[in-house]
Parts: sequence; C-alpha cells; structure tokens
Amino acid sequence: MAAAGASEILRVDDMSVVYPSSRGPISAVSNLSMSMNAGEFVSILGPSGCGKSTLLNVLAGLQKASSGQASLFGKPVDGQPHRNIGIVFQQARLLPWLTVLENIFIPIDAMRLKRADYLDRAHALLKLVGLPKFAKHYPDELSGGMQQRVGLARSMIHDPKLILMDEPFAALDAMTRERMSVELQEILGKSKQSVLFITHSIPEAVFLSDRVLMMSSSPGRFIEEVHVPLKRPRALDAMASGEFAELCGRLRKLYKH
Ligand SMILES: Nc1ncnc2c1ncn2[C@@H]1O[C@H](COP(=O)(O)OP(=O)(O)O)[C@@H](O)[C@H]1O
Ligand SMILES: [Mg+2]
Repeated sequence: MAAAGASEILRVDDMSVVYPSSRGPISAVSNLSMSMNAGEFVSILGPSGCGKSTLLNVLAGLQKASSGQASLFGKPVDGQPHRNIGIVFQQARLLPWLTVLENIFIPIDAMRLKRADYLDRAHALLKLVGLPKFAKHYPDELSGGMQQRVGLARSMIHDPKLILMDEPFAALDAMTRERMSVELQEILGKSKQSVLFITHSIPEAVFLSDRVLMMSSSPGRFIEEVHVPLKRPRALDAMASGEFAELCGRLRKLYKH
C-alpha cells in the first residue's frame, strides 16, 4: 500500500458494505483498506460481483459504507459528491436531449458554477479527447467510443484532482477499447490527474496502471497488490513484452471467478 504522507489523496480503512435483501444481508465488500497518492494511476481488478462498483460508489459519495471509513483529500467522505472528484461510468450516461457541450457542463450546473467560466476549458477538453468539432452534436450522432470520450471530458470539466472510473471501456468492442487505453494515457500525460480505475480486464489494468490491487470474489477483499514498473508512455506493443506477460500471468493466477 502507498505510504501515508502529504501527497495521500485517498484512504480506505477497514471498510465493509452489507446490503439488506429479502434473503438476508449480502456482504458486498469486507474489510477493505487501501490508499492512493497524488499522481498515481491505480486499478482495482476483480471478478464480476466482487464489489468493485460498491467501493467506487462509496468513494463517489453515492452510497454509504456499513462500517469503516473512506477519506478523500484528508476528509471523511460524507455521502455528498466531492468537488475534487470526477466520475466515469461503464455507460457514458449522456443525456440524449442535450448537445455534447451541454452534457459536458452537467457537473458545472450540478455544482452551481457559472458555465461561462468553464467554456474555454470545455472546448480545450473536447480537443483533448479528440472531438473538437462535435460540441453542437447530439449523443446519438456519436459512436460508443466517442460518447465515452465525452463522458471523460465531462468528468474533467471542473478540474478534479482524482477521477474515479468504473469499467469505462467495458461496453466498447475490443479494438476501440485498446485504442481508448492509449488515448486515456495520452490525455492523463497532459492533464496530470490521479485515477482510480476499475476493470475486470487483466491486460487493461497492467497497461494503464502504476499499481494493481486484486480483489477476491464475493465478498470482495484485497488479496494482492502488484506494482507495474513498465516505463511510460506505453504503446500497445508494450503488451507483447515478456515483462507485460509476466505481470499478467501473476495476476491471472490470483484471479478467482
Ligand atoms: N443495491 C444492491 N442491493 C443488494 N445487493 C447489491 C446491490 N448492489 C450490489 N449488490 C450485490 O453486491 C455485490 C457486489 O456488487 P458490485 O459492487 O456491483 O460488484 P462489481 O462491480 O464488482 O461487479 C454483488 O453480489 C451484488 O449482487
Ligand atoms: Mg461493477
């Protein structure tokens, strides 16, 4: 785990989440502890249903932990969406009746900030995600990959220090998905945001991350942490290296469905 220190931006201490259900309580995640430092790209890898989204939703302020604590930027998460985080979901979740630009402004409106103060930034982000000419288009005029890039721009509009991403490329085809990984890395190289990235793809986690935390199947616990020393920027042919295969192999042995 990352050492506690001045640059620690996220901390989870002994966190558990239990859902009530008609068949009795369901333990989704159990005794999770982790931390992240500024500038890190950390992936959480685990099988479907192991509680990845549950953890991310608690950090995003969208639901509460049953016990333990989560903190962002030194303050406990209080169940409110935090000004310093951006969120990207598995589906882009764009509003179809709004243009691309208006969709990007959703967090600005939600935080009651002035759109005019963020107009230049919105256009800069559209350029960054490769969609400079699409501000006035509607979501249904865009491909899935383009919509997901709008979602990424939206998550960054208020210049959050940390972006939480919940399987952002899972709905895309394999080729687009690989391309998006490279593009995300390029975007972050310029924007310097920290990312907590959730995925069930081992190569995707290794390709993107500084560290990968592996979760067990339900109830999810952290079972292993793997550092990824591959140098950056990483091109797709990094996936063909022996070092990449060795890291994926180590994680694959731990991956329990
Ligand atoms: N709102 C809910 N009510 C009851 N059970 C839930 C709810 N959300 C998730 N779960 C259960 O909690 C476990 C973890 O779910 P989730 O966090 O979505 O996992 P993942 O994102 O890793 O697929 C699963 O067993 C799931 O069925
Ligand atoms: Mg999930």
